[in-house]
Amino acid sequence: MSIQSYHESALVAEVLERLVLMPGVYVDGTLGGGGHSLAILEELERKGFLEHSFLIGIDQDDCALQAASGRLSDFSGSSALVKGNFSGIADIVRKICGERNFTGSVAGILLDLGVSSSQIDTPERGFSYMQHGPLDMRMDPKAEMSAADLVNTMNERDLVTLFFRYGEEPRSRSIVRGIIDYREKHGPLLRTEELAGIIRMRENRPDRAIKTLSRVFQALRIEVNRELEVLEQVLADGAALLAAQGRLAVISYHSLEDRMVKSFFTAQSSSDWGPRGVGLREPLKKAEFTVVTRKPVAPGPQELSLNPRSRSAKLRVLEKLA
Ligand SMILES: C[S@@+](CC[C@H](N)C(=O)[O-])C[C@H]1O[C@@H](n2cnc3c(N)ncnc32)[C@H](O)[C@@H]1O
Repeated sequence: MSIQSYHESALVAEVLERLVLMPGVYVDGTLGGGGHSLAILEELERKGFLEHSFLIGIDQDDCALQAASGRLSDFSGSSALVKGNFSGIADIVRKICGERNFTGSVAGILLDLGVSSSQIDTPERGFSYMQHGPLDMRMDPKAEMSAADLVNTMNERDLVTLFFRYGEEPRSRSIVRGIIDYREKHGPLLRTEELAGIIRMRENRPDRAIKTLSRVFQALRIEVNRELEVLEQVLADGAALLAAQGRLAVISYHSLEDRMVKSFFTAQSSSDWGPRGVGLREPLKKAEFTVVTRKPVAPGPQELSLNPRSRSAKLRVLEKLA
């Protein structure tokens, strides 16, 4: 597989412009095919920062690490690629900087959330309702729970809650009834095409089927990979790692993630003025961060025409104040 077909990186220029502003440690928490990491390293070199910089790339998927290590081979002395979950960012950064004797502080963190094109397009990974494959959806293939495990062991009420909460799917009850009936008649549901078939049968408006399929598959993927829990953790721990003027850039692809990023950034950049009406002259606690992107940055028409999968990308950036 060529590296371009592994994954086409989104909003590259927009990320570089807002993230690579000084030498130091850069962390790419979602390495994927290494497109963003390579661009960051090249930008550090172009700006004369590379000698005093180091990039740590993290991914929980071995295939991503393999693809990225080839792509970043010219920068092997300035980077380390680590298999792990970005929720462990604090320990990973401490360990790698210790091993490499690198004392620079964290100048930038990038999180390009969700799955890569390679993960979606590989039928055996089970992420896509358009491909026939095992109902898997684990980004880390060694993780315990697959989507099939969830669909076959959760009770009706919990599955309905899952599809409402993480898929915002209005027809959750009917779809889950279809799943339960199927389980009772045919035994465990193990394939993407079986689940897609049930969803299509339950959808009385065929023009809505694609949206329903993507919402239900999204809900399962979020639960399998605990995506919102680990995002909450990495936002807090990532922000705490930043040096003065260091930046945290997050690209999200659906509203649940984006809402979480937006409200975290708002909270971090707001001072605490105590209860209303007290009339303090100084805040009880001054904000330690500022939001760089008042509105989320989205791909322009040229990127959209070259890379339609970037259409839902939204970039937000937070900066630690000096
Ligand atoms: C959208 S892709 C990133 C693509 C990458 N920016 C590039 O330019 O090729 C997301 C990647 O992040 C990884 N990932 C998602 N959540 C993760 C997590 N919690 N910890 C580690 N890796 C994660 C996925 O396995 C996937 O390879």
